[in-house]
Amino acid sequence: MPTQSRTSLQGLWSSRTAFVLAVSGSAVGLGNLWKFPYIAGEYGGGAFMLVYLLCVFAIGLPMMVSEVMLGRRGRRNPIATMRLLGEEEAGSHLWRLVGAVGVFSGFVILSFYSVVAGWSLEYVVRTASGTFTGSEPATVAASFHNLTGSWERLTWWHTVFMAITVAIVANGVQGGLERAVRILMPLLLLLLVILVGFAASTGELPAALAFLFRPDFSRLTPHGALVALGHAFFTLSLGMGAVMAYGAYLPQNASIASTSVAVVLIDTLVALLATLVVFPLVFAFGLDPAAGPGLVFETLPLAFGRMELGAIFGAFFFVVLATAALTSAIGLLEPATAWLTETTRLPRTWAAVGLGSVVWLLGLLTIFSFNTLEDVRFWQGTLYHNLEHVTVNILLPLVGLSATVFASWVMCGNSSSEELDDDAPVVYTIWRFLARFVAPAGVAVVFLSAVTASPDLG
Ligand code: TRP
Repeated sequence: MPTQSRTSLQGLWSSRTAFVLAVSGSAVGLGNLWKFPYIAGEYGGGAFMLVYLLCVFAIGLPMMVSEVMLGRRGRRNPIATMRLLGEEEAGSHLWRLVGAVGVFSGFVILSFYSVVAGWSLEYVVRTASGTFTGSEPATVAASFHNLTGSWERLTWWHTVFMAITVAIVANGVQGGLERAVRILMPLLLLLLVILVGFAASTGELPAALAFLFRPDFSRLTPHGALVALGHAFFTLSLGMGAVMAYGAYLPQNASIASTSVAVVLIDTLVALLATLVVFPLVFAFGLDPAAGPGLVFETLPLAFGRMELGAIFGAFFFVVLATAALTSAIGLLEPATAWLTETTRLPRTWAAVGLGSVVWLLGLLTIFSFNTLEDVRFWQGTLYHNLEHVTVNILLPLVGLSATVFASWVMCGNSSSEELDDDAPVVYTIWRFLARFVAPAGVAVVFLSAVTASPDLG
């Protein structure tokens, strides 16, 4: 069937740029600003970064091209797209399960993503009001635990964050998503560049550069390499139908390969800039680069609390974090919203409000796992650990792998080359090779190690 005849039920992006902003908005998130610096710190800097770059380009990029291509060819929500293409290409409607698991995972991920995003909102207020000025490490750590220990505060910020997300998604592809990313993405990049300038001038830039860019392979462990691979996958928002849903709104004449390359470059750039903000400050104050998940919330405020203008720049940092989380949250809610409106004909507003409310409720599980239900454990992890482990480490690789295998092995070459034909033939050949062999092998490794690990190791 000629693709030109299919139209998206949700509308299209007004341009290629809008698509790039939206997908990079979903890609740039807590993963880049919160997680990437701490895993780069924990697993030893330079060598880890190299492995990460390799994974992003050799595995993440071909998977992204596959998802965008499937989305644009189907022009529907991920579940309907996988069903339609599965019937067309393989005569089976079971492929819709891939879409369904993806949409479901995005939905569950949003429930805890929103809670962590809420922490950054609290930290905007705290840093701006000078809470950390001159504080000692123990006080900063205690104040972080005070926050996670208070279900009231967590619920308040989770509610605020979800309300904003729902309001944007309710307004549709062009009026909501596109308008939001057109304002938020440039703002985010601008603030981030200002922060790098600040960190470079007040912090220890040379020490940070040496740590980050002088690879020392003796510090790279097999586990570190696995973490790099898993993160490459998460940071590009793959395996959740998000990229597929956004691809469904991509104008027919836009080149899929070059837009995907643009997204991957932006995402990588932001991750690098984040490390250039965090590590000069960490080294300037003799803090621990391997502080783990607390790096941004427990270590960084110490640096902000000891610097002139630290309150202002600290607040900037957390605004950037919250903004990045917001553009990702939109991408997590959109696939389910598109699915609900397309299957039930419910107006988009009600679909977004309804789904947002369910996500909100689900988020309470995460909130209580930090306090009241802290002692409820499965496989040694809290409820939150388990939700995160199952979705991020198991379901995402599974869905991403299936989508890529579908695009490169199941779909006939004519269909895929039709979608990718704006690019030189060599681009198609490279994509097909990476998507058929390299990406599946890489993802299989992550997946197998995840199912055999316990949640807290994941
Ligand atoms: N990429 C986001 C980050 O780095 C997180 C994420 C994973 C995501 N999958 C997604 C965001 C799907 C939107 C849609 O933080």
